[in-house]
Amino acid sequence: MKELEERINKDGRVLGKDVLKVDSFLNHQIDPVLMDKMGNEFYQHFKDSGITKVLTVESSGIAPAVMTGLKFEVPVVFARKHKSITLKDDLYTSEVYSFTKKTANHISIAKKYLSADDKVLIIDDFLANGQAVNGLNDIIKDAGASLAGIGIVIEKSFQKGRQLIDKAGIPIYSLARIKAFDNGQVVFEPEND
Ligand code: G4P
Repeated sequence: MKELEERINKDGRVLGKDVLKVDSFLNHQIDPVLMDKMGNEFYQHFKDSGITKVLTVESSGIAPAVMTGLKFEVPVVFARKHKSITLKDDLYTSEVYSFTKKTANHISIAKKYLSADDKVLIIDDFLANGQAVNGLNDIIKDAGASLAGIGIVIEKSFQKGRQLIDKAGIPIYSLARIKAFDNGQVVFEPEND
């Protein structure tokens, strides 16, 4: 998505060797006009996949997920994060380790919001090591639902997540794919068609 790449070039900041700060339009302050366009991109890509539900993880996945759900006119569910969780019968749970933050979280979704009839589209802001997607996929499997695809706002193709998803044969569409950071500059993969 050209407009997103341009925005990353204009407002993104590379930190260290593998982190991109995009607090001014995605992770803290949110640009709703851009979110709306991103929701439309995801809709155009997955509109024939029979999506019944959009799933994400709090907090930064919620904005793009809601805009996507709006286009599909389906509910959006965000997994909640807990440092630890006492097992509860009415929740699906999974563990997600964050390499970026070096912490483990349990994520959970109430059983009543995900059923075996659901065809799920996962939306998330970043794809790095794929831990969040993995955790959501575990929950989808527990619910007996099916995963129709994954939509990512910013993918860092040089980290493990993309490879894992491709290996699992899950359809994925990323709006911006970062190949590398080169001296503080963002190098993108060639555009999706
Ligand atoms: P994953 O997202 O693929 O599972 O990889 P990882 O475990 O490395 O990511 C952990 C957290 O860090 C996630 O947010 C993810 O979105 C975020 N993250 C990963 N790489 C970057 C990056 O380059 N820039 C920014 N800004 N964030 C990155 P989270 O813990 O779920 O937090 P939240 O912000 O959604 O609340």
